[in-house]
Amino acid sequence: MQSLQNKRILVGVTGGIAAYKAPDVVRRLRDLGAEVKVIMTRGACEFITPLTLQAVSGNRVHTELLDAEAEAAMGHIELARWGDAIVVAPATADALARFAVGRADDLLATVLCASDAPVLLAPAMNQAMWRDQANQTNLQRLAERGYRTVGPGEGAQACGDTGAGRMSEAAEIAQAVADCFASGILDGRHVVITAGPSLEALDPVRYLSNYSSGKMGFALATAAIEAGAKVTLIAGPVHLQADARAQRVDVVSAQDMLEAVMGVIDGADIFVGAAAVADFRPVTSESQKIKKTAAVQTLTLELEKTPDIIAAVSSLISPPVVVGFAAETHDLLEHANAKMQRKNLQMIVANDVSRDDIGFSSDSNEVIVLTRSEQVEMPKMSKDQLARELIKLIAQQV
Ligand code: PMT
Repeated sequence: MQSLQNKRILVGVTGGIAAYKAPDVVRRLRDLGAEVKVIMTRGACEFITPLTLQAVSGNRVHTELLDAEAEAAMGHIELARWGDAIVVAPATADALARFAVGRADDLLATVLCASDAPVLLAPAMNQAMWRDQANQTNLQRLAERGYRTVGPGEGAQACGDTGAGRMSEAAEIAQAVADCFASGILDGRHVVITAGPSLEALDPVRYLSNYSSGKMGFALATAAIEAGAKVTLIAGPVHLQADARAQRVDVVSAQDMLEAVMGVIDGADIFVGAAAVADFRPVTSESQKIKKTAAVQTLTLELEKTPDIIAAVSSLISPPVVVGFAAETHDLLEHANAKMQRKNLQMIVANDVSRDDIGFSSDSNEVIVLTRSEQVEMPKMSKDQLARELIKLIAQQV
């Protein structure tokens, strides 16, 4: 079963009797690990109250297009950027008609126009309305735009009719949302990813390291798994829970990381070096704590280079596709390009780590991806979203 761990799902509720099932849809999405925000149309509020959906989602419910409380009154754009996927349950015949022509006359329809996220529709209506040619034409138009549909099911309807038009069960809808993330573009591939920092010991209690949290590498692991890959995640010391479907190997130093990578790389299709490996380590690591004495005012450390893990992978006789990251504080593209050439990489992700709002430790990132033939700018987004975009690009290299 696909998980929705770390996914942000927007649930649109429109005005039909099946709106009474929307709280269960929200609950099932949360059971799969998603964070959920709800948008209700005016009609939906006639069937159930926003308070119910606020209680089950744990978030304020959005109902108004023009919302003075939303930052700069741009709530629709913020919501559109927030959602990793949008599910409309129930989607009435009227809602489908408005979406099909691209109306932007209420919050939900506007968010759909403003979002690039996958959209899943769970239609619910009377069986005659479902079969109606106008409705089928609307669905066809929406399918051509990439909208997916779950259901409707067949059976007894609230109006007394029997036939197709019942909204799918909540569990089925939640699973269909999760399936939106399963692209299959890396089906059957083995992806090895490094993440987090390395720690280079000075003595038993001190070390050299950096601010990497592992978030970027862990997000890439989940995105690769969702794309169908088998993933080995080699992680430096971080406080993150890995996707349960990844094969996780914990390491401490650059040397440990090198050995772990070399132990699994044979036959791998893709290697992604997202780890912030220390470039230098102490020449000697003292077996006892280095003591501070009154006489000692300064301490000089002698450092040596650590093994270059990614260069070792790209030097293999049959290397996988090798993707690196370049963490830079200045001359981003120049340094990233030089690293791509020097380390013989197919792709490098140039990461400006001089900014506080992206890069090390933050939940967001903004990067420029360089390949041998192109440059792709990726605007600021969550590391989870970015990971999915990067996996799409990486899959094109295999
Ligand atoms: O972990 P987060 O908090 O989410 O932050 C993400 C990140 C900023 C750590 C990540 O996105 C990133 O930029 N990782 C690469 C950091 C880095 O070490 O960059 P570099 O320019 O020093 O190294 C270039 C490449 O060589 C990297 O792919 C690195 O993994 C690899 N390398 C470096 C040194 C070494 N001894 N062995 C290596 O394999």
